[in-house]
Amino acid sequence: MTIESLYDDVTPIKPSKAFSEKAIIKTDDDYNKANTDRLKFWEEQAKQLTWDQAWDTPLKWERPIAKWFVNGKLNATTNCLDRHIMSKKTDKTALIWESESGDKQSLSYKQLHDKVCRLANYLSQSCNIKKGDRVTLYMSLTPELAIAVLACARIGAIHSVVFAGFSAESLQDRLNDSESVCIITGDIAIRRGKSIKLKEIVDQALDNAPSVKHVLVHKRTTEIVNWVNNRDHDFNEALNSSSSYHEPESMDSEDPLFILYTSGTTGKPKGIIHTTGGYLTHAQYSTKIVFDLKDDDIYWCTADIGWITGHTYLIYGPLLNGATVFMYEGTPDYPNEGIFWDLIQRYKISIFYTAPTAIRAFMKSGESIPEQYNLASLRLLGSVGEPINPEAWNWYYTHIGQKQCPIVDTWWQTETGGIMITTLPGLHDMKPGSAGKPLPGIQAQCLHDDGTAIHSGGGLLSLTEPWPSMARGIWGDSKRFNDVYWSKFDTYFAGDGAIVDDNGYFTLLGRVDDVLNVAGHRIGTMEVESSLVDCPKVAEAAVIGIQDRIKGQAILAFVILKEGISESIDLENELKQFVAKKISPIAKPKAIIFTPDLPKTRSGKIMRRLLKQAANNETLGDTTSLSNPQIIKDIQKQLSK
Ligand code: WT7
Repeated sequence: MTIESLYDDVTPIKPSKAFSEKAIIKTDDDYNKANTDRLKFWEEQAKQLTWDQAWDTPLKWERPIAKWFVNGKLNATTNCLDRHIMSKKTDKTALIWESESGDKQSLSYKQLHDKVCRLANYLSQSCNIKKGDRVTLYMSLTPELAIAVLACARIGAIHSVVFAGFSAESLQDRLNDSESVCIITGDIAIRRGKSIKLKEIVDQALDNAPSVKHVLVHKRTTEIVNWVNNRDHDFNEALNSSSSYHEPESMDSEDPLFILYTSGTTGKPKGIIHTTGGYLTHAQYSTKIVFDLKDDDIYWCTADIGWITGHTYLIYGPLLNGATVFMYEGTPDYPNEGIFWDLIQRYKISIFYTAPTAIRAFMKSGESIPEQYNLASLRLLGSVGEPINPEAWNWYYTHIGQKQCPIVDTWWQTETGGIMITTLPGLHDMKPGSAGKPLPGIQAQCLHDDGTAIHSGGGLLSLTEPWPSMARGIWGDSKRFNDVYWSKFDTYFAGDGAIVDDNGYFTLLGRVDDVLNVAGHRIGTMEVESSLVDCPKVAEAAVIGIQDRIKGQAILAFVILKEGISESIDLENELKQFVAKKISPIAKPKAIIFTPDLPKTRSGKIMRRLLKQAANNETLGDTTSLSNPQIIKDIQKQLSK
């Protein structure tokens, strides 16, 4: 598959001399070392962690399962916390947090360690949670969520964080798939001034999640919540009643650290498994070199811990490096459109990592808003989640970075565990719209459909050598892991289209399959479609992504109504609300097209590609496999109205 470049050639931009001179990475040394001896290079990075027991072999590769740092033993929290409190960093601020309503918390490394140990003690002693047990975390973006993540890691329980915007049904699916024994939640989450009753959602999910024996509830309000004795525990009391030291569980390098659910093209979400030694090695190394992270930085990654970005670059990566992390529980436009700039000014944020969807929203409200704030503390900007178009890149560079801050456009996935492709901020020229090169120790190529390499031009992105933070599987479904990522090529199939240029820079083109990427959130078409079909009035549904200036993609749904049901504006709104409630407001379709039929192959598969082409006013591609060719022409007519 050859993919045409959509962007005109852009002029490369050099990072400023002032930045480059002080940068952690100033030369190609790491690239050269990794190219000479990749495994030795990764071993050198792994040695930057504290191990209880050294590994004996760097890599055992039995495609598609990698084992890194074989027989090594370590604990994630010893590395994120204990080694800092045993050094000069004990009183250094680890986390600074602010909520949308202005609540504040700040925790030193010592204080964070104390709380993590207390919760670890409670989970193991009062809830009898053991190494390898799954614990689901369904909480708002608060320090308590970070504490819960780390407490699981301390005792060797596998955490599965479910974004607190998911519905009871989505939560239930994930609880059952992972067979979690415990869920940690809050009484409420706050979003745009509204409180969301998390505990009620959890109670609904627990109607049918028999593996869950314990529920910890972090109470932020004095509101009374439904309480089930012998099952529900008060998070704050748990911390108060437990002792402040917990001996960390010594984990095998290949013991799972967490599961994180992500949407696929078809079927239910995939529980991506990450293990301990390799994941932490890459998290520590990539955070340091990509963000040029130094001791006095105040680092803000705007992602929620419910996504992989929050795992790797809000918790593990920065804490491994002993950094000061800022966390904000709120959206970019509430209580006003200047809130992010206000926070940067007040907390003197120096590194800011966000998503193109947020940048496009800022652009829409205009530069007069950031101009009202002092953003001089910023020295580095980052982008992640979808391709950043050159227009948004330039706006970010000019109006937020004042042309002084390099931008790192970081390409990676839940499955890759950490950043794979980006420029290094003090070393490389930036090309707006293009992510850059694979990091030292990472190999990427664009491939033709038949697996042959493309040295210059567009194709399917593949990572061609195993890397430490690669996914080790899909929870409970090794066949699917193989089918999705390892059956197309001999090497890892990322599912993204990309163009590689003569300098080895990769420009990402988005998903080659049907997965939707709305505001940086990957949503499976299946999840949205099946929720629509769950509505008693709907017979069948297909959803596609259409270009959206703000969100990157918005969802367009094609719906076949059941006999006797007539279409109306009210019904359209009803269906939108239905999806928002069932999955998440993120998954709500922007528009619904009622149609008597859908384009299908003879084997009965909906051809979403044709719907996309029709919706984007493109000429239709191959229609020979259609069983009902007339319908796509009718849909085209309807869309052009
Ligand atoms: C997909 C992964 C990586 C954490 C956030 C999303 C797209 C991600 C970029 C980028 C172009 C990007 C890809 C990728 N993507 N970053 N810098 N440029 N596309 O994680 O939910 O696993 O989604 O997001 O399509 O495959 P995810």
